[in-house]
Amino acid sequence: MKSAVEPSAAFLTDRYPELGRGPVSVEPYVSPEYYEREKVHIFKKTWLQVGRVEEIPKAGDYFVKELAACDTEVIVVRNKAGQIRAMHNVCAHRLNQVVYEKCGNTRKFFCKFHGWAYDLDGKLTGVPDEACFFDLDKADYGLTQVSCDVWEGFIFVNMDPNPAQTLAEFMRPVYGDVEGYPFDKLTCGFAWTSVVNCNWKLALDAFQEAYHVAYIHGNSIADAIDKSEGGSMRPLDVVCGDLHRRLSLAGNQKSVYGNPKAVTSGGAAAQEALAESAASRPIAAAALRAGMGSARHEFPLDGLPEGVNWTKHPNWLFDINVVFPDFYLSLRPNYCQAYNFRPIAHNKTLFEGRVYYPEMTTAGGRFFQEYMKVALRDVLLEDMSTVERTQLAAQTGAKQHMVLQDGEVLVRHGAHVVDRLVNAAQSV
Ligand code: FES
Ligand SMILES: [Fe+2]
Repeated sequence: MKSAVEPSAAFLTDRYPELGRGPVSVEPYVSPEYYEREKVHIFKKTWLQVGRVEEIPKAGDYFVKELAACDTEVIVVRNKAGQIRAMHNVCAHRLNQVVYEKCGNTRKFFCKFHGWAYDLDGKLTGVPDEACFFDLDKADYGLTQVSCDVWEGFIFVNMDPNPAQTLAEFMRPVYGDVEGYPFDKLTCGFAWTSVVNCNWKLALDAFQEAYHVAYIHGNSIADAIDKSEGGSMRPLDVVCGDLHRRLSLAGNQKSVYGNPKAVTSGGAAAQEALAESAASRPIAAAALRAGMGSARHEFPLDGLPEGVNWTKHPNWLFDINVVFPDFYLSLRPNYCQAYNFRPIAHNKTLFEGRVYYPEMTTAGGRFFQEYMKVALRDVLLEDMSTVERTQLAAQTGAKQHMVLQDGEVLVRHGAHVVDRLVNAAQSV
């Protein structure tokens, strides 16, 4: 029997027959054993986004990133030559963690246990009372290097000493046409971190579909939904690659959330948004008015790379890009969101969210940014309000499968890719 409401176009999911239409297993979301296999066959084998180049602009700047799914912690540092290097935070002497701080600037790393010194490339340069060691060749005892590379200013590491693909080979099949997005102009913003008691895929899933916007965000950003679209934010288009996936969404640009010209020159789109929201959302409208024309960088909509708003829809709001495995990168006309869902255990995830804006030239621009900080915080809290409950409910065993609609195609693709890699590895 047909459903009462048919989407106007063919199902996006059917473009990828390997995904099927059937229910999706809950087991990968609740099984500790499945998570152990994900660690070995995914997280210790693939490129993982750990930060941006702006976080370590000068030689000696470093940060330390704990990657529980890889059972390690990496030091990411800019060396004297200006290159970005990564190494395990493990002293070659008796294996103490060399760096305790989360970030900083240094000339050398000194292990706090016995004082071994390593330069910014991880080479061992100093050993107190070296004469008492037995033929110690310092060249053999540097910090263990981690594969590291940069794509569009995003720093990635790969625990595999010989990665199967370069970072460019990993990114380009789906994201080559996003290169040139003005990431380097979006250097200002805000960040949140939180440990959530749910599987990493379950948390990511809450961000890789827009079916939920009308409901869970009903009191915050649902005015960004185009009312002629049947009440739901239906995807314009989807791209599912071998690993990565993305979805493009349109909506009501007259909402403050959806306004493409907020903080830039303003123009007709922002004026329309003000007219529409001044009465219903006075604080949002005040922030929008204050921020207009404040960005140091203008964002010409027709200057975006081909892969951003790739359908060229006039009412485009944003693209959801999911860089496999755990990196959500939402690209918008004038800001972007970069969220990571880093696994800690089968039912525990470190959420790290960063929102990048252009630098503002006026106090009004900063006010707009502060407004967006609290507005997006509230949206995030709405998104996160379900995930721990969903995890608990999934663990009851009451249901073995979940049912997905066409707009949730990225959720389906994500589960499919993870399962393919975990099972392919198992069958070898
Ligand atoms: S463990 Fe690092 S110097 Fe001894
Ligand atoms: Fe959401």
